[in-house]
Amino acid sequence: MAGLAVNIDHIATLREARKVNYPDPVAAAVLAELAGADGIVCHLREDRRHVQDRDVRLLRKVVQSKLILEMAATSEMMGIALDVRPELVTLVPESREEVTTEGGLDLIVHNKSIGETIGALQNNGIPVSIFIDPEPEQIKLAHQHGADMIEIHTGIFCEATSATKRKQAFAKIVDAAKLAKKLKLGVNAGHGLCYTTIKSFNGLSEIDEYSIGHSIISRAALVGMDRAVREMHDLIKAL
Ligand code: PXP
Repeated sequence: MAGLAVNIDHIATLREARKVNYPDPVAAAVLAELAGADGIVCHLREDRRHVQDRDVRLLRKVVQSKLILEMAATSEMMGIALDVRPELVTLVPESREEVTTEGGLDLIVHNKSIGETIGALQNNGIPVSIFIDPEPEQIKLAHQHGADMIEIHTGIFCEATSATKRKQAFAKIVDAAKLAKKLKLGVNAGHGLCYTTIKSFNGLSEIDEYSIGHSIISRAALVGMDRAVREMHDLIKAL
């Protein structure tokens, strides 16, 4: 059965909208775990627009399932990751202009340094996933660079504006998951997934874990964190 890693960035987004000390993403992580989350994800951005250093350090102490740190492959983030020692680092592209992560890390562009980053983390006992688009070339490069896992970017599928585009985008995800498994990579998937789009993954047993944030936190604002996480967890269990 696939797992659910809950991304709590948007609890921090709400807090940072007022620059106050609530709601606390650490409290959200505890509630998510109590509701069955298999992991907690946070993205420490270079501009600290939502998650703060304090959150990552407290999450490290509090999270009992596993802590997944999303980060850009910069020397600053490397230092933090080596200090905090999350159970998994997911390397993501980052640009200050974007509202949210807009696509996978392009391993054709970042070909040179990424292997060194992966090696440095792994040598310190931290497994590494790379967030990439569902393209065969990207998956082969992730494998060549020695990544432990990939996270397939599902955003294009989730945002598709027609049935045809959605079908094409999903076919790419299926092919990507199968290729990654053939190469013995772990396979996570995420970005843009909601309580409707998740149902399309029925029967796709290659996915190990779904990384979901915005839809869960949005629902949590209305029905509570416990129910929002449980409902998503139930949908994933039924896949
Ligand atoms: N995976 C990655 C790599 C992400 O950057 C994000 C967004 O922070 C997610 C998953 C979760 O996306 P969403 O918030 O749309 O569920």
